[in-house]
Amino acid sequence: MEAWLGWILGLIPLLGWLLWWWNEIWYALPVKRSCSIAGVKLPPGHMGFPFFGELFTFLWYFKILRRPDEFISSKRRKYGDGVGMYRTHLFGSPCIIACFPSVNKFVFRADDKFILEWPNVDLMGATSLVAVNGKAHARLRSFVLNAINRPDALRRIAALVQPRLVAALELWAQKGRIVAYHETKKVTLENIGKLFVSFEPGPQLHKIDRLLHDMVKGMRAQPLNFPGTAYHRALQCRKKVEAIFRVEIEKRKSQSEETVTDLMDGIRQIKDEEGKKLSDQEVLDNIIALVVGGYESTTLASMWAIYYLAKYPNVLKKLQEENMSISQNKNGGFITIEDISNMKYTNKVAEETIRMANVAAFIFRLATKDIDYEGYRIPKGWKVILWLRYLHTNPENFDDPLCFNPDRWNESVKPVAYQVFGGGSRICAGNMLARIQLAILLHHLSVGYKW
Ligand code: HEM
Repeated sequence: MEAWLGWILGLIPLLGWLLWWWNEIWYALPVKRSCSIAGVKLPPGHMGFPFFGELFTFLWYFKILRRPDEFISSKRRKYGDGVGMYRTHLFGSPCIIACFPSVNKFVFRADDKFILEWPNVDLMGATSLVAVNGKAHARLRSFVLNAINRPDALRRIAALVQPRLVAALELWAQKGRIVAYHETKKVTLENIGKLFVSFEPGPQLHKIDRLLHDMVKGMRAQPLNFPGTAYHRALQCRKKVEAIFRVEIEKRKSQSEETVTDLMDGIRQIKDEEGKKLSDQEVLDNIIALVVGGYESTTLASMWAIYYLAKYPNVLKKLQEENMSISQNKNGGFITIEDISNMKYTNKVAEETIRMANVAAFIFRLATKDIDYEGYRIPKGWKVILWLRYLHTNPENFDDPLCFNPDRWNESVKPVAYQVFGGGSRICAGNMLARIQLAILLHHLSVGYKW
């Protein structure tokens, strides 16, 4: 019995040691050998435990300490700066974290070396913009940009979102006390429902809200597909959302082709250079990707705008001054995209909100071959996590980064350090739409309300 106990007690540290080094031995060791032959190094770091990698450290900083940027700062302290790359194992894959502007820029520009690789991308759909690469991506992107980024599309969007926003603000004032996240989410979905598929507020949109909520949860979950997991539930919800939009597509087939009332019509009718339109499945996948991409991001940006303006009355005062003068010329009417481009201070507030909100904390790429950067290797098949939020909260890039200061946008910002919308050929397709919606909210909120 004592001998057994001795064995077990002796084995525990051995087992701990093996678990701690397992990923290093399994993933890093073979790569280190090929690196030394090529005269380069694997970025420093530690790859954590089998399967989970550094997930627990990540959760410790993000969820328990609630100091997310310390996750990267602690690596810098431990392993030094190098070129701003660290090896790790996160979200189920061996990864290289990139957290300096220059390395991110290198990755954004190297489309021949990296492809986009979102975790759980099947939730968006296999033919959605975010799931395809190369020529297929360029083709789809031109469809989507035509539908949401052209001046005429933005003009229509600006006109469409305002009545709902104004009505929502009036309702919030009547309620007297609101939870900003819930209310901005509601009005964002109403706007997106109207813009994308002409859905009016009601039980249908309410159902979509619940389904999208679970889909977004599934995107952040481990990809374990069996009943009870968040990912499994998200897949079921995606099927239901798809079914709702498919009915809508079928309905439209019997209507006149000429009328473009929303983004679904726009995407259905645009033709590529060869005169081809998108298939029904492509339309569906892309509408879902746009709804998901636009819904949570716009909600969060709007919520943070309300928060920061409440915390920084000096900013609100300047915002009110600019918007009051615009509102007087409009006789209380709605603003246009031309007005928005003249709202210099408002646009700085929008930009500062997006910087501070860090809606997309990080984004993903996959190395399609061994790639060497400044003496360090990104091994083939590993993911690159472009840690965007660290750029925006790092004092080396932004003075006093946690201070909400729209005036920093007068000139001093290093453009390369501002990557909130990603970059390169993948830069956020909805970035103009997001900026315009935020400026419209800031306008109506600041001219009409105190909070
Ligand atoms: C504040 C709001 C938003 C932020 C911070 C944001 C951020 C981002 C980021 C970081 C990416 C990844 C870029 C990359 O991989 O390099 C992205 C991609 C994308 N976003 Fe946004 N986004 C916002 C709003 C929107 C809106 C409103 C829409 C649509 C209605 C949208 C649609 C998309 C799409 C379709 C892509 C994929 C582009 C591609 O792969 O070509 N986003 N966004």
